[in-house]
Amino acid sequence: MEKGYGIARVGVSLPSGLLSRFDEIIRGRGYSSRSEGVRDAIRAYITEYEQMEREAGEKIGIITYLYDHDQRGLGDELIDVRHRFRDVILSVHKHLSETDCFDTVIVKGEAEKIKDLAGEIMSLKGVNRVLVSISKTASEMKTTAMEMIRIK
Ligand code: NI
Ligand code: NI
Repeated sequence: MEKGYGIARVGVSLPSGLLSRFDEIIRGRGYSSRSEGVRDAIRAYITEYEQMEREAGEKIGIITYLYDHDQRGLGDELIDVRHRFRDVILSVHKHLSETDCFDTVIVKGEAEKIKDLAGEIMSLKGVNRVLVSISKTASEMKTTAMEMIRIK
């Protein structure tokens, strides 16, 4: 049990498809209640966020996101956001279906800026899922490799 006192009850509105998929998954994983599944999902979300928060320094970031092609103005908004971040090295667009678009954006720069970019994308209406992976830069990898050689 986390620190803090007692249990709070919340009511949330969710698209029915999202909820039924979630129920399907937690049933498959053997959860006895939806509440327990939601608690674990929230913990995982917080852990993911905290790991991301700890990233600092010059990094390479890969941001992927799914968005709704029919969301008015969203395509332009996404272009604007990417334009504001000059660290974008490459962005690739894939039309998944009539309505679903999938982008992959590669950026190199301060972890803080990579996180800001991902955050801005995430906040746009019509963007459905954002995944961010932040990795070491080539020079960092070289340092790590040299350390490993030294250890040997
Ligand atoms: Ni441009
Ligand atoms: Ni598309």
